[in-house]
Amino acid sequence: MKDQLAKIRAEALAAFEGAKDANRLDALRVKYLGKKGELTAVLKMMGKLSPEERPVMGQLANDVRAALENALTECSQKLEAATLELRLKAEAVDVTIPGEAVSLGHQHPMNIALDELKDIFIGMGFTVLDGPEIELAVYNFDRLNAEEGHPSRDWSDTFYFDEDSRVMLRSQTSPMQVRAMDSMTLPIRIVAPGRVYRKDEVDATHSPMFHQVEGMVIDKGVTMADLKGTLNTVAEKLFGEGTKTRFRPHHFPFTEPSCEMDIQCHKCNGAGCPTCKGEGWIELLGAGVIHPRVLEMSGIDPEVYSGWAFGLGLERLALRRFRIDDLRLIFENDVRFLEQF
Ligand code: PHE
Repeated sequence: MKDQLAKIRAEALAAFEGAKDANRLDALRVKYLGKKGELTAVLKMMGKLSPEERPVMGQLANDVRAALENALTECSQKLEAATLELRLKAEAVDVTIPGEAVSLGHQHPMNIALDELKDIFIGMGFTVLDGPEIELAVYNFDRLNAEEGHPSRDWSDTFYFDEDSRVMLRSQTSPMQVRAMDSMTLPIRIVAPGRVYRKDEVDATHSPMFHQVEGMVIDKGVTMADLKGTLNTVAEKLFGEGTKTRFRPHHFPFTEPSCEMDIQCHKCNGAGCPTCKGEGWIELLGAGVIHPRVLEMSGIDPEVYSGWAFGLGLERLALRRFRIDDLRLIFENDVRFLEQF
């Protein structure tokens, strides 16, 4: 019996040591220490021993059991540690590997120019308005004093949706003047940027869709002097201090008097060059003092209130601001072009 116990002990210890995983180790535990295991089988034979031998063998058997149990615990801890080690290796993250560069987009030059413009006007107390691109002719023409038969209403210039020429793609942001008068309380100071549409062929300076920014002020005692003062300030903020402007008489149905504002060419300082087509000046916007009839049609008394308005081509402004020479570049979305801003 003593030999048997020694044999079990030696065999079991060697087997535990050699177990490669937890399942195998557990199977060995059952094999040696389980209810039907080898050690239990030996213990069951204790009854056949003499009373003198019994405690000695009992002691020996207990020692073997304790030794096996200790070895089991040790081996299972070793296995666990090894498994953990493997997992940590497999899941290791090498923080020293250089990251992959993420390519970030950025604002389109048109939006950069628009944001600058909005900032300037917001700083002067203006509110930014947004309005519909599908517009009623009532807002785009009638209430802007461009009556039936006015040349700007012609089908060759304007995209209409219906035979009666009542619904259209707005041809200017000026209907926002009327919408502002309808929805706001006086005094009013607004800018309204957005898309406008005209039947123009695409070339270096034309596109059937382009952007305008409308501006309007209505208050008591507002004059042409306020218009010039404000627009001169805006020109200097946009294009740098000392930027020269020039106001030329013009005609719009909804302003009286009307003018166009030019800025002096940044390339030749007025001498005349290819950028300004030899003019020395670059046209930037149309403007004027709001026609009393326009105020009247919106229920505003022109004897009490007066105002001014302007409409600016945003593409033209962006081209000048970033010294781009072809309008088509703005719309083509070629990243090689856009990345430069
Ligand atoms: N709406 C005019 C245009 O598109 C510009 C303008 C706006 C002129 C406001 C005067 C006042 O040409």
